Formats: sequence, C-alpha cells, structure tokens
Amino acid sequence: MRRSLVVGNWKMNGSRDKTRALLGEILAGLGQLANVDVGVCPPYVHLPDASELLKGSSVLLGSQNVADQDEGAFTGEISAPMLLELGCALAIVGHSERRMVYGESSALVAARYAKAIQHGLVPILCIGETLEERESDRTFEVIGEQLDAVLNSSGVASLTKAVIAYEPVWAIGTGKTASTEQAQEVHAWIRAKIAKLDASVAEKIQILYGGSVKGDNAAALFSMPDIDGGLIGGASLDANSFLKICHSA
Ligand code: 13P
Repeated sequence: MRRSLVVGNWKMNGSRDKTRALLGEILAGLGQLANVDVGVCPPYVHLPDASELLKGSSVLLGSQNVADQDEGAFTGEISAPMLLELGCALAIVGHSERRMVYGESSALVAARYAKAIQHGLVPILCIGETLEERESDRTFEVIGEQLDAVLNSSGVASLTKAVIAYEPVWAIGTGKTASTEQAQEVHAWIRAKIAKLDASVAEKIQILYGGSVKGDNAAALFSMPDIDGGLIGGASLDANSFLKICHSA
C-alpha cells in the first residue's frame, strides 16, 4: 500500500515570525500519523528558521523550486546542494505559477527535476491543465506532454525517487475544487500512462492532488484509489485547516 503525503505550499506568504508561529502550531497538533507523511514548503528565505524548528520532528522540509544548475552565474536561482544543506528533502518543480507567470517551459522544468533527482532531493512534479485546455478536451494531451518532458530526459525509473502532483490550474486558489471523479479520472490516467512504461513504478508512485483542497473536502478526495494525498496552498497557511487535511489522509 502506498503511504499518503500531504505537503503545504506556502507560496510567497508569511514572515519569519509567522513561519515560527505556524510551524509551532502544526508541530503541536500533528500527533502520530500512521500512514501519512507531512511536509511544508516555505519561501526560500524562511527555510533556515523552518529547518531549525523542524529538527527532530518527522515533518519534511521542502522548497518551492530548485535550480537546473549546481552553481555559478545564475542570478536568483537556488541549487539542490544549497537546499540539501538546509535540510530540505522535497522540492516542488513545475508549479503552474512558475510555468504560467514566469514562463518556465516543460524543458526547463525537466532540467530542474533532473537536478533534484541527481542530488537526492525528491521533486514534486506539478502538472495540470488550464480551464481553456479542459474545455477544449485537451487535458490528457497537456499533462501527457508535461510528463513526457520528464520521462524523455530522466526516464521512468526516476519516478521511484519523485512525487507527482496533479493540479488543475482552474482549481488553484479559486475555491473550485475538481470533483472527486474528475480528479480520480486524471490520476488514474497518469498512473496508467506510467504503467505502460513500468508497472511497478506506476504502482508505487505517489500522485497528489492540488487545487482548493480544504478541511471539508480533503477526506473525499483522499479516499479515491489513485489520490495519494495533497499539495495544499491557501489552507496550509492556517494550522487548523492544514492539520484537519493531514488527519484526513
Ligand atoms: P490552493 O490550495 O490555494 O488552491 O493552491 C493549490 C496549489 O497551488 C498548491 O501548490
């Protein structure tokens, strides 16, 4: 049986004080979870504080992106070795806000993914279609292309060291969650696509759902057979909501 994973993507929110307060509340309320791993991805500048606070806890630390290079003249980028030094275990790559607001191509996302894998940082590869793409029946074409960029460069075996997050762009920050059936359909499609290349990798890969997951819809989403947890935006900034989601997994 696959373990569940719930990860908070804090995006560009908070402050040093808020990071300490939020993590304090999460650690106090989490308790022992039998089959669920929990992670948080604060902004880069708050990783050192978070790392210190999480020492000795089972909560995983993650970054919101990772460079496609190890070091050098790449202004504004943060490399996998730097993140590992701070205690990060996870790195989100290819979030739709990076793809759409900052123009990251699938090729660049694949290069970032490859660097994370090379250094032993677990990439959370985000894929998902826009509303326009869904309405023109291009959902599987779009997420297929996003997946292929990674499969063609890093190979299917790399997925044994990665996590996938299906995040329909139209559900992010909109309050419009995909229905459990809509999400399950895409998750099953992703797993079947991977199974065509390697059935055992497909069986093991954790596929998270992201997009307006809240305390009151998490349990239904997580009960679907191919949904192995969630990547949580807004609701991860409130300890009670995030804890409720973690306890639903
Ligand atoms: P929301 O949960 O705020 O919709 O954000 C989802 C997301 O983008 C997580 O990466």
